[in-house]
Amino acid sequence: MKALQLEKPQHFRRIEIAEPTAPGPDEALVRIHRIGICGTDYSGYLGTMPFFSYPRIPGHELGIEVLAIGEGVTDVKPGDRCSVEPYLNCRKCYSCRRGHTNCCENHKTLGVMCDGGMCERMILPSRKLHISRTLTFEQLALVETLAIGCHAINRGHPQPGENVLVIGAGPIGLSVIEFARLSGAKTIVMDMNDRRLAFVREKLGVADTVLTNGDGQELKRLNELTGGQLADVVVDATGSHRSMSHALNYGAFAGRLVYVGITPEPVSFPHAPILHRRELTLLASRNALAPDFARIIRLIEEGRIDTRPWITHHADFEGMIAEFPNWLKPETGVIKAIGTMPPSDMD
Ligand SMILES: NC(=O)c1ccc[n+]([C@@H]2O[C@H](COP(=O)([O-])OP(=O)(O)OC[C@H]3O[C@@H](n4cnc5c(N)ncnc54)[C@H](O)[C@@H]3O)[C@@H](O)[C@H]2O)c1
Ligand SMILES: [Zn+2]
Ligand SMILES: [Zn+2]
Repeated sequence: MKALQLEKPQHFRRIEIAEPTAPGPDEALVRIHRIGICGTDYSGYLGTMPFFSYPRIPGHELGIEVLAIGEGVTDVKPGDRCSVEPYLNCRKCYSCRRGHTNCCENHKTLGVMCDGGMCERMILPSRKLHISRTLTFEQLALVETLAIGCHAINRGHPQPGENVLVIGAGPIGLSVIEFARLSGAKTIVMDMNDRRLAFVREKLGVADTVLTNGDGQELKRLNELTGGQLADVVVDATGSHRSMSHALNYGAFAGRLVYVGITPEPVSFPHAPILHRRELTLLASRNALAPDFARIIRLIEEGRIDTRPWITHHADFEGMIAEFPNWLKPETGVIKAIGTMPPSDMD
């Protein structure tokens, strides 16, 4: 069967690989229909992602159909359409035993640390499949991106009446915004790129945005928007260590700061005058949990999350290698590019 492999940075190639074997106990054989492309795939392509090894078949945002199931599988059956929770966990380590499957000590993300879904068919643990009867395959492929924002907001746990500041309006920030709004808190979005803020205002209907250029005006604006309280929950989705080092300044007294963006650089901030004085809580947010996938599918089914603004670009299997470098260019305005896996189908 056909697959796309990143042989080394910036070198995709079309390859033929062996058909998967029959599914074993607790496994399902699935057909991949749609695949979402995200920042992780772009940095894997560029060779800037530390966890990425080569050669690798990428693909972790998947809309799939179950083809066959192994012994003991009761949660899915052939014909089911599912989203895939791509975080493979060991079920044995301390984190897994306590239910923190998102940060398993032996964690592997499909398509990053092991081969993913840029192929026709694959075997997956059936417990990682989340069914929907009504979503399209491309909506199912979007669920994982949304799960990152869902988990980040669960970590910060904003309450109705509180203020949430989301810094960074890339795809991850947008997924945080969806769940910040659903929490009933007032949502404010900050970015240094006005085009991204315009998207948030026009397509996601968030009225309050703050453009930052580091001149200190953004703190004044945030003060105005929050009645002088600043943000009860700050979620930094920039991946910039500069922003992450500064983000505490936007936190209200007794506020929470969630780092959902990731930086290899050290992050530093003043302790006594800010973190201690305001008694801030600092939280990391990694991946997502199984119930997040089920909740997001329900929210899209109920029309409470509109996926239409999200999916901006498409390519078929044949066109994906050529399109991939274009999706890296900011001027193409990509939020989420979706690839169709062969053979071409319409849904
Ligand atoms: N927690 C997780 O499990 C998880 C999962 C996937 C991705 N991520 C991380 O989330 C981060 C964001 O991903 P993305 O795909 O949305 O990235 P992106 O680069 O598309 O978006 C980042 C946004 O932040 C803005 N920004 C950058 N520096 C800024 C600053 N100093 N002040 C204000 N705005 C600033 C940019 O203009 C951009 O709009 C990355 O670090 C990525 O690695 C985390
Ligand atoms: Zn992703
Ligand atoms: Zn584990």
